[in-house]
Amino acid sequence: MQNRQLGPFQVGAIGLGCMNLSHAYGAPPSAEQGERLLLAALDAGVTHFDTAALYGFGANETLVGRVLKPQRRNLILGSKGGMAGVQFEEGIKRVIDGRPEAIRRNCEDSLRRLQTDWIDLYYLHRWDKQVPVEDSVGAMSDLVRAGKVRSLGLSEVSAATLRKAQAVHPISAVQTEYSLWTRNPEIAVLDACRELGATFVAFSPVARGFLCDALHDVATLDGKDLRRTMPRFSPENYAANLKLLPPYKALAQEAGCTPSQLALAWLLHKAPHIIPIPGTTRVDHLTEDLAAADVKLDAGLLQRLESLINEKTVAGNRYSEQSSREVDTEVF
Ligand SMILES: NC(=O)c1ccc[n+]([C@@H]2O[C@H](COP(=O)([O-])OP(=O)(O)OC[C@H]3O[C@@H](n4cnc5c(N)ncnc54)[C@H](OP(=O)(O)O)[C@@H]3O)[C@@H](O)[C@H]2O)c1
Repeated sequence: MQNRQLGPFQVGAIGLGCMNLSHAYGAPPSAEQGERLLLAALDAGVTHFDTAALYGFGANETLVGRVLKPQRRNLILGSKGGMAGVQFEEGIKRVIDGRPEAIRRNCEDSLRRLQTDWIDLYYLHRWDKQVPVEDSVGAMSDLVRAGKVRSLGLSEVSAATLRKAQAVHPISAVQTEYSLWTRNPEIAVLDACRELGATFVAFSPVARGFLCDALHDVATLDGKDLRRTMPRFSPENYAANLKLLPPYKALAQEAGCTPSQLALAWLLHKAPHIIPIPGTTRVDHLTEDLAAADVKLDAGLLQRLESLINEKTVAGNRYSEQSSREVDTEVF
């Protein structure tokens, strides 16, 4: 696979999002299946793995840390703090907390679960709107100085917030949702990243399965699947969105690739500072997704693709109102 620059590191052009092995889309796979997937990724030459304190409330870091440990020095490991599970009387809940003491605690917990002395790329998972981003990033820069993390990233921030953070410490990467059906980063964040020398890490790059032609009936989703809370996956909106798939699949056929590969290849063609991190629980899907790095798309096809699937042709918002309030949509 071709390499791309991720902050100060060289990594494969497509990384692996590990969230799905413990979190998000219904019942997670067994630990054995998760381990198989991670080992297959290593075998396939994946060099960049993405996890977070939040995923499975620590279970994802525990799995990733255990399986990747023998190869630790040869890999770039990204993790995230500032949003994690907190134990309450009624159970564990997800809490956004960007105070310096929370960041320090999150990082120590992540290092322990990951069985490592350092995290290569440490992201602020969400900007906590109660805390100036400069304070959170200040705490993260102390972690760099202490040798606990090697570079810093932000997730789901506006260009304005990125610039504020950059004034405190160089930001190596911004990780935000970006795919054919989620184009917000095109307003300003992609340009700001290019200008500041930060890599843009595209999460949910295959539209959480929609662009893989893998989900035809949202009624089949598990009761706990996060997509049930997302307006684009409501039965009405999804039915409208499914009408985009036949012409989309025809474009994939024309490009000589699968629908999932077309979504990833489009991202790789958009700019050299973009790295997609698809997530999967299946080795066959992993193999398929990684091969997207070799797909070539011509300008005419790219144009037809972009006019077919974009925020105007898609029905429904990407996030619920509650989740939208948690991301930084103030100024792009
Ligand atoms: N920073 C943040 O706030 C944030 C938020 C969300 C995600 N992320 C990161 O981004 C990563 C990826 O995002 P994501 O998982 O939300 O979305 P995604 O990668 O767009 O989609 C994942 C879904 O697509 C399916 N899929 C993937 N490749 C496929 C293929 N070739 N054929 C059929 N189905 C396929 C997977 O199912 P199968 O398991 O069946 O393959 C899964 O349901 C996560 O793992 C996580 O690391 C970060």
